[in-house]
Amino acid sequence: MPVTIMIGAHWGDEGKGRVTDELAAEADITARFAGGDNAGHTVYVNGELFKFHLLPSGILREQIICVLGNGMVINPVNLLKEMDEMAARGVDVSPGRLLISTRAHIISPAHIALDKAAEKARGAQALGTTLRGIGPAYLDKAARQGVRAGQMTNIEDFADALHASIERANEVLIRQGITPLDSHESTIQYIEAAQRLQPYLVDTSVYLNQRLKEGAKVLAEGAQGAMLDVDHGDYPFVTSSTATAGGAIAGLGIGPMYVERVVGVTKAFSSRVGAGPMPTELDGPIADRLRGTGDNFWDEYGTTTGRQRRCGWLDGVILRYSAQVNGFSELYVTKLDVLSGLDEVKIAVAYEVNGKQQDFPPTTIRELESVQPVYETLPGWKEDISGIHAASDLPAAAHNFIKRIASLCDVPVKTVSVGPARDQVVALQ
Ligand code: GDP
Ligand code: IMO
Ligand code: MG
Repeated sequence: MPVTIMIGAHWGDEGKGRVTDELAAEADITARFAGGDNAGHTVYVNGELFKFHLLPSGILREQIICVLGNGMVINPVNLLKEMDEMAARGVDVSPGRLLISTRAHIISPAHIALDKAAEKARGAQALGTTLRGIGPAYLDKAARQGVRAGQMTNIEDFADALHASIERANEVLIRQGITPLDSHESTIQYIEAAQRLQPYLVDTSVYLNQRLKEGAKVLAEGAQGAMLDVDHGDYPFVTSSTATAGGAIAGLGIGPMYVERVVGVTKAFSSRVGAGPMPTELDGPIADRLRGTGDNFWDEYGTTTGRQRRCGWLDGVILRYSAQVNGFSELYVTKLDVLSGLDEVKIAVAYEVNGKQQDFPPTTIRELESVQPVYETLPGWKEDISGIHAASDLPAAAHNFIKRIASLCDVPVKTVSVGPARDQVVALQ
């Protein structure tokens, strides 16, 4: 391995949690490098359901050390809540097993209030953020007025920094006619959290580099997806971090020479939650079929917000683009089982823009909103594939579908999953 980077190929929720859990079996360290608790990563093991927002999804593998890297924005109260929940379920979240970068940024109550206020002000143009304060926290980081996790080592300094953050936010809130935050009241829990988190704070870049020199295997767990990346996604309908593979290097403080594998995770269809263009979005029976009724935990309803996800056929144009900007060395296709029973399945292989076909998405929102997907229709398969373990047992039509995905972006599909559980996996090569 030394470093394997795992990235969502579309707009998030591709099944990164389950893939991380699987790849972590071969790793020593699982590290998150971007985003915060806007992420919702699901892992289903031995009939137990786990949803991770800040903790790396490799945490269920006993040998794994978990790292929250410098590229993250961390809500300390929500992190402790998640840690306590995991501890109650018998998961080791002690210092030494979980390391938090002193350089990671803190999401304060001010950031959450500002996220809500900004969405309200956008009205009909709202981005549909997760309201976790992600954008305002990264904004403060870029403006060089953020609060870093390392400041939690000095409680007085930390409290002052939080209060200053709230005072700045209150000026904005008052201008918008929103009730300002009570600086003391809203920070009590944060200050308590800081005290508890002190033993976890480490220079994780120094730690990771030392372990890599000793031969440790690191799994970098992407959050969100390539199309939500602040540079490469469909700006402005994106998150505020670098969710693509390059973000793993900057967000962990390691060199690119360690990277051996970049695993792109895609669902067998496309989904998006929140606003923004989605060229293959469907409305009607196929979309309902892909989304599911909500009765199963794997149906397409947000892990973090519970929102219904928009669904449509697999967007191969986005996948091809994503393979390029991330440098995928292999693909992992999830939720293949969901396509079982359909007479035919479709993949968008190009877009028609102003009467011309193109292989990559246009860079302006106006154009992306007006593209017409060019679909290729492939035969479906009727068999229930959720119990299949060997590639040779997959129906020919499923093999055909997978082969087309690989040829579309010139990246081999190495694994498919046929259900949410650990053993519902088929290795292809
Ligand atoms: P993430 O954000 O990329 O980790 O994805 P989420 O956890 O938000 O959403 C993916 C959902 O699909 C979760 O409920 C998973 O349990 C589920 N899932 C993952 N792989 C498969 C699969 O192969 N088949 C089915 N049916 N569900 C899957
Ligand atoms: P995982 O890691 C799906 C979306 C939000 C919104 C946009 C900006 O589970 O795949 P933000 O709160 O980040 O400012 O919201 O990004 N979004 C996600 N969509 N999965 C996620 O994470 C997401 N994280 C953010 O819905 O459209
Ligand atoms: Mg998710």
